[in-house]
Parts: sequence; structure tokens; C-alpha cells
Amino acid sequence: MERKDFLRSLGAGAAFALTFPCLQGCSKDDINGNKVEQPTGVDFTVDLTSQEAQALVPNGGFILKNLVVIAKNFEGEYVAATQVCSHESYDQVRFVNQNGGIFYCDVHGSRFDQDGTPLNQVDSKTAKPIKIYNTELNGSILRVFE
Ligand code: FES
Repeated sequence: MERKDFLRSLGAGAAFALTFPCLQGCSKDDINGNKVEQPTGVDFTVDLTSQEAQALVPNGGFILKNLVVIAKNFEGEYVAATQVCSHESYDQVRFVNQNGGIFYCDVHGSRFDQDGTPLNQVDSKTAKPIKIYNTELNGSILRVFE
């Protein structure tokens, strides 16, 4: 049986599904992460001597905890921002080594300064800041809070 005969035997719906398998799902499947609600009442601590905090030893490192990105910026200060992007609420905000250290969401490429200010506009939607949290260091215990 030739290809066109095979497709014809399947019917139009199946032939469409075989021909255009990505039409509805691929762009979403290509996205890492999930759409999530902004956390509220953020107030927790991180023991900087613990295993979970090892990525915070070098400047520029970051960890994720409770939907918050906790980073040690390139000046050695601790900064914290929500993981929830202000663009479409994906939980993909991370700290990256660009422009001296910024928060970045790889879903559509939104970039934010360390104070949460948007640095670009990825589409016609108005770019909004992301939530930034306070940090307070007491010995080796880092508190992250609103
Ligand atoms: S959801 Fe982050 S850039 Fe679109």
C-alpha cells in the first residue's frame, strides 16, 4: 500500500493527526515548569551550612525553595525573588550571570533586575516586576521573608 492510499484508508481525522502531531501540544510540551500561584506569607530560613545551601557558596549560585529563588549575587549579597514569572506565571525564574546578575525566565525570555524591575518586554503584554523578598543573615542562618 502506498503512503497516500494508507492515509486515505485512515480517514481525514487520522491523517491530520499523523501529519500535524504538534499543532496543539508541542509548544506547551517544550516548556519546562508549570503555571503556579504566587506564594503568600513567605517567611522561612536556610541553614547556609546545610547540603541544600551548597549552591550558595560561590557568588552567582542559587537555590530554589518554597517557590523562591535564593541567590548569592556577584557582590556576595543574598537576594531572593519569586520563582513565579510575572509574564505568564510559570515557575521558571532563575538567577543567571548576565548584566552582573539578573533573574531570568526561560519560558519566553523575561529578564528582571535584582530589584524585580523588568528589563525587557517579551510581547505586547505590559512587562510587570517580579516579587522580591527580604533577606536577613544571622550567623549561618539566612531568613527569607516578605
Ligand atoms: S512565563 Fe516567564 S517569560 Fe513568559
